Amino acid sequence: MSERISQAFIDDLLGRVDIIDVVDSRVKLKRAGKNYQACCPFHQEKTPSFTVSSDKQFYHCFGCGASGNAIGFVMNYDGLNFPEAVENLAKLVGLTVPKQERSAKAEAADKQRKLIYQVLEQANLFFQTQLRQHESRIHAAKYLKKRGLSTQVVQEFQLGLAPPGWDLLIKHLCDANARLSEKEVIKLALDAGLVVENPENQRRYDRFRDRIMFPIIDVRKRVIGFGGRVLDAGQSDPGKKQPKYLNSPETPVFHKGKELYGLANVRQAYTDIPKLLVVEGYMDVVALAQFGIRYAVATLGTACGEEHLKLAFKYTQEVVFCFDGDKAGRNAAKRALENSLPAMEDGRSVRFLFLPEGEDPDTLVRKVGAQAFENMVAQSVALEEYLYEVAGVGLNLNSLEGKASLSKKMAPLLSLLPEGVYRELMQNQLAQHTGLSRENLDELALLSIPKLAEDTPDLTSDSRLPQDPRVGSAHANAENQRMDNWPDMPEYSPADYESSQYTQYEPKKPKPGKTSSYDKRKDDEQGGHSSGSASKFALQPVRRLLALLVQHPELARQVELTNLLTLDNQTELAQIAELIGLLRERPQLDNAQKVCIAWQARFGESRSKLLAELSATDLLAGSQGRIEYNPSEEFRSCAFQLQNWLGQRKIRHLEDRLYQQALTLEEQKQLSIEILKLKKQLLQSAQAEKLREQNLGTTKH
Ligand code: UTP
Ligand code: MN
Repeated sequence: MSERISQAFIDDLLGRVDIIDVVDSRVKLKRAGKNYQACCPFHQEKTPSFTVSSDKQFYHCFGCGASGNAIGFVMNYDGLNFPEAVENLAKLVGLTVPKQERSAKAEAADKQRKLIYQVLEQANLFFQTQLRQHESRIHAAKYLKKRGLSTQVVQEFQLGLAPPGWDLLIKHLCDANARLSEKEVIKLALDAGLVVENPENQRRYDRFRDRIMFPIIDVRKRVIGFGGRVLDAGQSDPGKKQPKYLNSPETPVFHKGKELYGLANVRQAYTDIPKLLVVEGYMDVVALAQFGIRYAVATLGTACGEEHLKLAFKYTQEVVFCFDGDKAGRNAAKRALENSLPAMEDGRSVRFLFLPEGEDPDTLVRKVGAQAFENMVAQSVALEEYLYEVAGVGLNLNSLEGKASLSKKMAPLLSLLPEGVYRELMQNQLAQHTGLSRENLDELALLSIPKLAEDTPDLTSDSRLPQDPRVGSAHANAENQRMDNWPDMPEYSPADYESSQYTQYEPKKPKPGKTSSYDKRKDDEQGGHSSGSASKFALQPVRRLLALLVQHPELARQVELTNLLTLDNQTELAQIAELIGLLRERPQLDNAQKVCIAWQARFGESRSKLLAELSATDLLAGSQGRIEYNPSEEFRSCAFQLQNWLGQRKIRHLEDRLYQQALTLEEQKQLSIEILKLKKQLLQSAQAEKLREQNLGTTKH
């Protein structure tokens, strides 16, 4: 947590350091009249345009525009953040950075976090005690024995038992924290993710019941969360719909996207960690440790992301991913591969180990023994090899065509590598492989960001919690693009009501400034309306489609509307389907007036108002004459927008279900698959639409 440094101190500091010394100690300066000069350290140049002024205590590069004071220089040159740079300079001149009063809020959050660590530690001890004392310990011990765990490893990993019952832990925590009120303790336990509240009756109960407990311990040896495993087979018990593993939710001290299970144990085992083996399960880590393979860590039910890798590479230079040999495993591997690329700084190595199908590290090491397992680790596939393998799938690399495809796939991936020797090597290697020049490859890299892995659903329930907004990181952006592959799809928010221009036909205008979720729902119910660059026109897509149809009835027969109408049975949407039906049935309805009359005859007066109104709408209103009016293009584009919007809405609803309801793992899987299918569909139609728009653009000019 960054603490604020007072302006007075910064001024004082800048008054004491001389920027000439600061720069000169890093980049040799030459005197040039009143100023000093050097070749700019922030861009490539042969003649010096980097100037440092002693009077102004400022540097400026006339080549690349970099400029700033001493603090800025240290930040940029040493890659430090502001407080770090201040600290660095303060040391130089013998000052200590004064700690400012923290805000009361930060203070309180800190205190709360400390207490959360405390109850988590208490819970950890409680679970371990229960494993020795509770009457169900016999059952638990039997299970652990069946899994082949030694007492020693159980102790080392501090495994415990959450006994059956609803509030044993709550009671224990209340007793253990007698200084606090019951209310305070429960609040803490809720915040720590140890207790859940039933939203219907506000009853609280222990999150983990009747489970073997794996405490998740961070590198500072603090308990930050738990994973709990059911004692039985877990899945084949139709009566009990319980996930095999239950994990702590995200809490102020636990972010599963950033933690590796078992890392503390690895640190304990080595002064210098030779490598980290990243496996999938808690049980795998524990079993490997029992067999003397003490460098395994596990992600916590999520794919291995950039944050995981960052953490891993803090402690070692070599990471080996271990995956099941099945399809899911291969997909997970591709994802890990993509996530690894940005982390591949020089000197680091990433390798991939694929296990025989049906095995995980736990079962395998028990079968083949530690030595054979380690041999397999030693023979794992290097990232560069695997990358070529994945990108080359289905390509004939002897053909020119195959080589071209390979470059197309590889070039953008390689551009994700951080700059450095490794990247250079990889790019040269690709150039050699394909016979394409580096320039050509660079061009290809700009074309697209490919995706190696199909999206695999994250099986745990709290996965949608927002990740840290890693703004400003090119890698993070690249990752978002790769993972979501979500092209410019308009997001609809209540604010669109204010920004869009279709006041004319909006029956229920929400008051400006109101952005409640109620309004959001209404937005949902009324059909998509365009926003941002898409809102060239004054009408929302549903109505615009209706207007287009009524004014250009021939469109009903010309334009295919793929599965648009099966998506929804909303009234205005249903009207589109009905209108298309009518127009296809009766081709003689060839102008707006005839259409309106026929419509009224079929559906009655009350349902004809909207259509009549729309038949007289100026479809060019709002376009300010900028648009070449092409009704069938218009129709297509509106249909696309609408379909897109409906799809997104459906996804939103499904996601709400996925993340807000207690579902079994199987149900979660099914739902995730449905969501992914929808996303894919949307993506495909978005890509088709983009292509069409591009073609349109090129034929026009
Ligand atoms: P596995 O099902 O492969 O677990 O899930 P495992 O470690 O081999 O478990 P055992 O051998 O059956 O005991 C791998 C990891 O995925 C997460 C857990 O982190 C688990 O360790 N997971 C799995 C969940 O979070 N929830 C689940 O229901 C299942
Ligand atoms: Mn297993």
